[in-house]
Amino acid sequence: MTTADLSTHLDRDGAREELFDLLRIPSVSADPAYADDVVRAAEWFRTKLASLGFTARVDATPKHPVVYAERLDAPGKPTVLIYGHYDVQPEAPLSEWISPPFEPEVRNGRIYARGSTDDKGQAFAHVRGVELLLAQGQENGAPLPVNVKFLLEGEEEIGSPSIVPYLQAHAEELKADVILISDGSRFAADVPTITYGLRGLSYVEIHVQGANRDLHSGAYGGAAPNPINALCQIIAGLKDDQGRVTIPGFYDNVEPLTDQERQMWASLPHSDAEFAGSIGVASLPGEAGYSVLERLWGRPTLDVNGIWGGYQGEGSKTVIAAKAGAKVSMRLVPGQDPGRITGLIQEYVPRIAPPGVTVEVIDHHGGQPMKFSTDSPYIRAANRALKRVYGRDAVFARTGGSIPIVASFADILHTEVLFVDLGLNEDAPHSPNESFAVQDFENGILTSAYLLQELGADPDRA
Ligand code: BES
Ligand code: MN
Ligand code: MN
Repeated sequence: MTTADLSTHLDRDGAREELFDLLRIPSVSADPAYADDVVRAAEWFRTKLASLGFTARVDATPKHPVVYAERLDAPGKPTVLIYGHYDVQPEAPLSEWISPPFEPEVRNGRIYARGSTDDKGQAFAHVRGVELLLAQGQENGAPLPVNVKFLLEGEEEIGSPSIVPYLQAHAEELKADVILISDGSRFAADVPTITYGLRGLSYVEIHVQGANRDLHSGAYGGAAPNPINALCQIIAGLKDDQGRVTIPGFYDNVEPLTDQERQMWASLPHSDAEFAGSIGVASLPGEAGYSVLERLWGRPTLDVNGIWGGYQGEGSKTVIAAKAGAKVSMRLVPGQDPGRITGLIQEYVPRIAPPGVTVEVIDHHGGQPMKFSTDSPYIRAANRALKRVYGRDAVFARTGGSIPIVASFADILHTEVLFVDLGLNEDAPHSPNESFAVQDFENGILTSAYLLQELGADPDRA
């Protein structure tokens, strides 16, 4: 196997320029106005992978396409399926961006653009990792040390509605020994990380209806039901003052954290004060009895993600709105089932709604929580690769985010997942001024190349 130092062969400028081209495509999956751009981003990856000798295609789905590509020229070696997504979150609020979201720019060593870290930059790092290996050539003659397949989707940010049937239809073709994903954050800047768990998600919208029209708040106030007040009462009733969710049955079957896991997390280099400082707040409220990392990674929670109703314009308008609404996400942990949790909140909200209003709880997408093993030949290979790049052993961390398709990798493809996240929370995914450190992009390319080499090497070596 090749042991050469690949970092001296890395075409840093070329890789960055190419990533910029990809970042210029506004592939926002949530907004139908950008549908053609989502297709363009898919085509962009297909063209790039084809230029690297992959058999590559763009497959249509009922919504946004899937890119599939393969290079199977390492007979007898493992097959690695690399998953990523080329769709991005909406850019709003546009006025908060220092440079436009789809005009990438480097400032202070960071690439600023929507999708830079989530997930175009991380997915593309693997493409350049493969390219680096191909440019180097393998000592044993085979072009790549393992067989490589890419599965890149355009619907991750909207809950992957098309990919489950896609996996079912292409299960044979997608067969692999391991699925490699980089779509999240390392524990800290100098800490390489293997992620071994994701939270699940249940996402609902609460609609509250009062009178049949907006009303004069003087003529009707004190007698007419107020849907905004009612919504606030409902929301206030979803959590208690200990930070616990009050929906009956919500915590049933929640897998308790083991002492071993709590100890492992407690030993990670984390500071609550720094964490609070990094987001500009004075304290970190949450469920009593659990540390911040435990609350983020191992405990479920409920958050309002959006709320509307009534007059929001300049000055004041004396009015009682006819309707109000809120979007609510619940992050789930192993033991909880998104479908069941959605059912529980649908039963509970009408029960706690005050009189005079009608409520409706609409189900959006969900995702299963996941937890993986922390020991396998693949994980050991990842640790060796990360050690070459970062000079130290990886830590094991879970994440508070969700990637719903991962459950289907287990259920449909029956394939183990290896999460080697390349970004940082401070990259601000989904926020204005999302970025990806140039250094992290380059380290990502190297990590990918070394990891593919390690996966192709004898798994049992030290
Ligand atoms: N890459 C994220 C998931 C993630 C976020 C991992 C933070 C680690 C840390 C992914 O693109 C994402 O945003 N997922 C959504 C899922 C939803 C749209 C179904 C999420 O977690 O909100
Ligand atoms: Mn992502
Ligand atoms: Mn995302």
